[in-house]
Amino acid sequence: MTADKIGHNRYVNYTPESYEKQGIMTWLCRMPADRKLVPAVSQIKGKHILDVGLGTGDYTRLLLDNNTVVGVDQNPHLCKLAVKVHKGDATELSKLVGGEKFDIVLSTWMTDYFNGEKLQQFFNEAKKVLKDGGTLMTTTIRPNGWGLIYLFLARYWRRVDKHGCAKSKVVAKLRQAGFTEIELINLNSWLGIPWACLVIAK
Ligand SMILES: C[S@@+](CC[C@H](N)C(=O)[O-])C[C@H]1O[C@@H](n2cnc3c(N)ncnc32)[C@H](O)[C@@H]1O
Repeated sequence: MTADKIGHNRYVNYTPESYEKQGIMTWLCRMPADRKLVPAVSQIKGKHILDVGLGTGDYTRLLLDNNTVVGVDQNPHLCKLAVKVHKGDATELSKLVGGEKFDIVLSTWMTDYFNGEKLQQFFNEAKKVLKDGGTLMTTTIRPNGWGLIYLFLARYWRRVDKHGCAKSKVVAKLRQAGFTEIELINLNSWLGIPWACLVIAK
């Protein structure tokens, strides 16, 4: 990360209310992506879930009635839900949760803070805290289509250190972490232009 770009520490001074304010990228990218992401998260039932980088818990909320959820975030003050949140880094999950194991590691719109090396560390740690046969569900930004515009605006306009990862590289990193069944589902932006992927890996 360059000295003048910021990562997860951009949220230190956010309140849950200021975080929830929607910007143009919410309208252009996240809301269209929710057409696939919200149903995928909502259908999960009866699972023990680690929600990594849960923020205010936009997607966590969809899980609480039918599952048990634990969180990890560098900024746990953002989450006002009745969920235990470990303060710490997504690349140190096994240390943060002790010996606890999960059916699902969920992480939405967080991996874009990771370069390739940190993304690999996150996948490795997710695998470590999953039960045998457990599932990682995460999102990654595609460095093409609207993803490229999103990354460009984040890095050079808002000066946030964000990263994309090509599908082939995501798959290679997941395999290296020990995942064998891997599905990448396109999450499109406004006008159906690709910008991100929902990654489901066992
Ligand atoms: C864009 S928000 C996404 C929040 C939520 N998952 C959602 O989809 O609405 C990213 C969240 O990830 C957290 N985060 C970023 N990098 C992190 C890291 N390395 N370890 C733990 N949390 C991180 C931030 O503090 C923030 O709460």
